[in-house]
Amino acid sequence: MKEANPLFDKAVRPRHVAIIMDGNGRWAQARGLERAEGHAEGANAVREAVTTCREQEIEYLTLYAFSNANWQRPSIEVEALMRLLVEFAEKEKAELRENGIRVNVVGEIEDLPSHTRRAVEHVIDYCSDGDRMTLSLALSYGGRQDIVNAARALAVRARAGLVLPEEIDENFFHREMTTHSLPDVDLLIRTGGEARLSDFLLFEAAYAELAFLDIMWPDFKEDTFIECVRRYATKERRFGRTSAQVAQEGAKVFQPLRPGSEG
Ligand code: IPE
Ligand code: IPE
Ligand code: MG
Repeated sequence: MKEANPLFDKAVRPRHVAIIMDGNGRWAQARGLERAEGHAEGANAVREAVTTCREQEIEYLTLYAFSNANWQRPSIEVEALMRLLVEFAEKEKAELRENGIRVNVVGEIEDLPSHTRRAVEHVIDYCSDGDRMTLSLALSYGGRQDIVNAARALAVRARAGLVLPEEIDENFFHREMTTHSLPDVDLLIRTGGEARLSDFLLFEAAYAELAFLDIMWPDFKEDTFIECVRRYATKERRFGRTSAQVAQEGAKVFQPLRPGSEG
């Protein structure tokens, strides 16, 4: 990996980028290949996205790798994706660790086949000292499910008298979600030509800037990523205020999710 060389000032670059990596299947089919070959090619694009993020000193990258709805796909495709995850974990772990990249999972890691789950848990553990960047993989992830699970956990604690309803605010609620260690999403990118969220980070992307790209995920390269960050850097994020207020008060008025904070 090259040395960090951020092209954008810290004040204007996103802290948390999330990507819906869509279009592997169509990329493959357009070339007369199996869908699984598209996923394999997609893994190279993952590698490049991680490297770019690290070089641009973006602290959090969250990748939608497998949704809870994707279990409905043909088992041969699901198996290929699970195998690729194992391969990715094994091939990339040394470089991830060397580069100070911590690995994290959002979603339901318990749903994965045990071999895949073990490989993912191993890479998380192996890279746990990383303090330069956090790479989160969304696996068996559903945004609604994550919200509902959090509500249920709080209801159980409330019934036991451990939580008072008036204590529950946005940060308190977020601490029950599998994304609890991540800040708000600043920039959400989707490749593959569709302008939808497909149940990704519904709570966390409340004020994210959205970028929908027509290219398929395997074609997502460093220059495309940098172009998305450049556009992001030109946006005025108002968080409900007027432009004049933003100019006067800066970004400080908006209270983003504060992972790990108490109270
Ligand atoms: C990859 O793209 C996303 C995953 C679910 C792994 P797709 O497999 O959805 O590709 P398309 O949308 O069918 O082209
Ligand atoms: C979203 O892509 C999920 C991932 C990228 C992992 P899908 O291909 O599953 O989304 P839909 O079905 O087109 O909405
Ligand atoms: Mg798709």
